[in-house]
This record gives sequence, C-alpha cells and structure tokens, in this order.
Amino acid sequence: MSKTVNSPEQTPVLRVWGGQKLSGEVVISGAKNSALVLMAGSLLCSEACRISNMPGLADVKTMTKLLSALGLTVKRDHDVMEIDASGLNTSEAPYELVSKMRASFFIVGALLGRTGIARVPLPGGCSIGDRPVDIHVRGLQALGADVHVEHGVLHAYVRGGKKRLQGGHAYLDFPSVGATENILMAATLAEGETIIENAAREPEIVDLANFCIAMGAKIQGAGTDKIVIQGVERLHSCDYSVIPDRIEAASFLLAGAITRSEITVAAVCPEHLTPVLAKLAESGITVVADGPNRLRVIPTETYRGVDIETLPHPGFPTDVQSPFMSLLTLAEGSSVITEKLFENRLQHVAELNRMGADIRLKGSVAIVNGVARLSGAPVMATDLRASAALVIAGLAADGETVISGLHHMDRGYSDLEGKMRGLGAKLERTMVDVVSENPEPATAQ
Ligand code: UD1
Repeated sequence: MSKTVNSPEQTPVLRVWGGQKLSGEVVISGAKNSALVLMAGSLLCSEACRISNMPGLADVKTMTKLLSALGLTVKRDHDVMEIDASGLNTSEAPYELVSKMRASFFIVGALLGRTGIARVPLPGGCSIGDRPVDIHVRGLQALGADVHVEHGVLHAYVRGGKKRLQGGHAYLDFPSVGATENILMAATLAEGETIIENAAREPEIVDLANFCIAMGAKIQGAGTDKIVIQGVERLHSCDYSVIPDRIEAASFLLAGAITRSEITVAAVCPEHLTPVLAKLAESGITVVADGPNRLRVIPTETYRGVDIETLPHPGFPTDVQSPFMSLLTLAEGSSVITEKLFENRLQHVAELNRMGADIRLKGSVAIVNGVARLSGAPVMATDLRASAALVIAGLAADGETVISGLHHMDRGYSDLEGKMRGLGAKLERTMVDVVSENPEPATAQ
C-alpha cells in the first residue's frame, strides 16, 4: 500500500543579513494603538467619520472586520478610512475576531455608551501575561453598568434597563490604558459628569480624547491622571488624523543605533519619545532634532549599558523594552532591565541568547552583559514587539538570522521589511516548509 504524500505546509520567515550600514529617512506610520481605539471610538457616532494616517496592519484589518460584523460600513482609500456607524445593528461581537486581538475589547465602552448594551467575548492578543479586565469592569460599573461574565462573554447593560449610562467617579487601581479608553468612550455619551482618576496618560489616550472632542465630546484633562468628561447626547462626524507611532519610531532609532548608522525618522512627536530618548542619551547615543517632527540618530562606535524599568507613561514604555534590549546586548558593560507591566514579556531573551547575547533572567528582571558580537541564527518571534527586537538584533549580527512567527510582526508593524530595505538593510521574506513536530511514522511497505 503506498502512502499519500501531501505537499508540506508553508510558513513565512524573514531572512536578515546583518552588517549593512543604514542611511536615509524612514516615514513613520500612524500609531497602531491609537488607530485601533479610534476605530472603536467611531462606534460612538451615528454619522460617518474620516480618519487619516491609518497604518496598514493586520490588527487594523481585524478591527475593520469586527466593525463590519456589527453593521458598520468601513471604506479605506490608502491611509484614509471612512467609518460609517449609522448601520450599527448588534451589540454582540463575534468570538473569532475578538479572540485575535486584545484591542477588540475596547469596543465595550463605545457600544455601551451608544446602545446601552455590550456583549463582547473576553479578549485575546499577545501572549504576554494574564491581562485581566477587572479595572475596565469596575470603571464601567461606576458609570451605572451591570457587568457579568457568562460562557466567556462579558455582558454589560445600563442598570435599571435604561439606555444611557450615568456619569460617575471611576478610580483606577492602576493606570490601565485600555480601561481608561473604555471608560472615557462610555462616558462621552453618559448623562452628567464622569471623573476618571489615576487615568493612564499615554499619548494614545490624548489622541482618543481629541478624536472624541472633534466629534463634539466634552473632555478635559486627557494626558493627566484626572480626566473629566461631561456627557453629551450625541456626537457628530469629523475628520481626524492618527498620531505617529512612537513605538515604530523608537524601533527605527534603535535600528540606526545598533548598526552605527545615521538615519532620520519622520514624522514623529519627539515629546512622545522622551523616556526612550533619555535612555539612548544615557547610553551615549545622540539623537538630534532635525526639525519640529524629525529625529536623526548620530552613529557612535561604542555605547554603554543602562538600567531600564518599564512603567506607565511617561515612564519607559513596555512596548520598547524588547527592541531596546537588543541594542543593549552589544553595549559596553551590563544593563538591568525590569519588566513591570507584563509578566511574560521577556520571552525574547532566550531568542537573543541563541544569537550569542549574554542575558540572565531572574523573574521579571533581565541582566544583560554586553558582548562584542551577535551571530545570526534561526529565531522565533514570541510576541509583537519581540519581532522588532529580533530584526534589530539581526541587522547587527554576523551572517543570516531567520525569523519565524511573523504573524506577530504583521499585526503591528506597517511594512517593516520594506521600510528597512529602503534604509539599505538586507532582508527578505520567504516561504519555508513547516517542519512537523510529530512527524507521522512512515507506513511499512
Ligand atoms: C495597551 C497597549 C499595549 C501596551 C500597554 C501598556 C493597545 C491596543 N495596547 O495595552 O501595546 O503594552 O497598553 O502600555 O493599546 N491590567 C489589569 N486589569 C485590567 C487592565 C489591565 O490588571 O483591567 C493590568 C495588565 O494585566 C497589565 C497592566 O495592567 O499588567 C497594563 O495593562 P494596560 O495598560 O491595560 O494595557 P492594555 O490596554 O492591554
């Protein structure tokens, strides 16, 4: 009996050939974390909104599908997206889409604010820790919502069968970005005043507030730890542009620094990058302003190790922790990196060590001893930001680095390889056969 041989499954990998100098300028896309929450925020308005500077990302496509599943019309022309939420016809989000990405959970506040009901499965997203939603839930309860979880789905209703939430006082135990966003969106259409205390201060919160203000919301204090919202009855259409992606900008600055290259990133908001620029300066790497929204990294042969602790904004962003660690693997001396936000966000350590880095892990602390060189190796991107970290390490390593797990990278980096290639990096995406972990035993002849 002859065995049927199926053609093997294939998966994409990114091959990076290290050692190239980079040069030139790279255009930074709109911020992923803003774009996704603005898309969710468009649910609040029953007219069409136009949002420009939308990044081209798998996560944006997932959010588009999610909004479409709720009855919205979403059209895209290059970087401009028009979202018309007048056709919203359900408050129930499908599990297949929500489970793909945590940001889908950010529709809860907008759905609840607009319709008085939200039924959204508990979220998925990166495998970077537990990521509970208790702070979201307590905040929505403070605005008069009844919230419970049944069969993995969060059910939220306005208490007493009413349609509008009631403004309230939401104190957050921790300045969670997503919880601040969900509560802020819910409060824009609530009756009366809402105060969010210990609110997250990330630039993406300010962007969401500005978007809501452009639609007619009354919000003060976004960007501080106390946000005050006066609820309005309805919002209107608007034109809005997403802020530049500070995490993408930081990743490119790090790529320039590690390859000892002079490159410019534009357009950026330098003030959003303060904690990253401070650590680059401490390490001995100069970044200069080349105009109001342009930053240029100046090459230096040697740089020092620095200690980093990730914190809510304006502390050092957890999303830049792994790309910065790649830089520090080749620094003089040692660095201590403490991940304070997500317990599983150090999985890239093992991959960097495969490339010759010297990193010891003790719980959520990574001790990085600088080495003279990295060497290319097959590595696996373990989460979104780890994928950029491995590209950055690969650019500086001897020989070829082959990165798998590219679905993580595609979620959050707009054409990373195209942009890197534009700067002179040598890298290519190719398909390879998936090697089965449990190969079927050959059939005896
Ligand atoms: C957002 C960003 C993510 C970034 C993170 C921190 C998006 C789509 N994602 O994620 O890229 O890394 O902010 O800057 O914008 N927590 C709770 N209970 C909650 C909510 C959060 O315990 O109800 C904890 C989380 O487990 C985590 C910490 O708070 O340890 C920070 O999470 P949060 O700020 O909520 O991050 P996200 O909004 O999920």
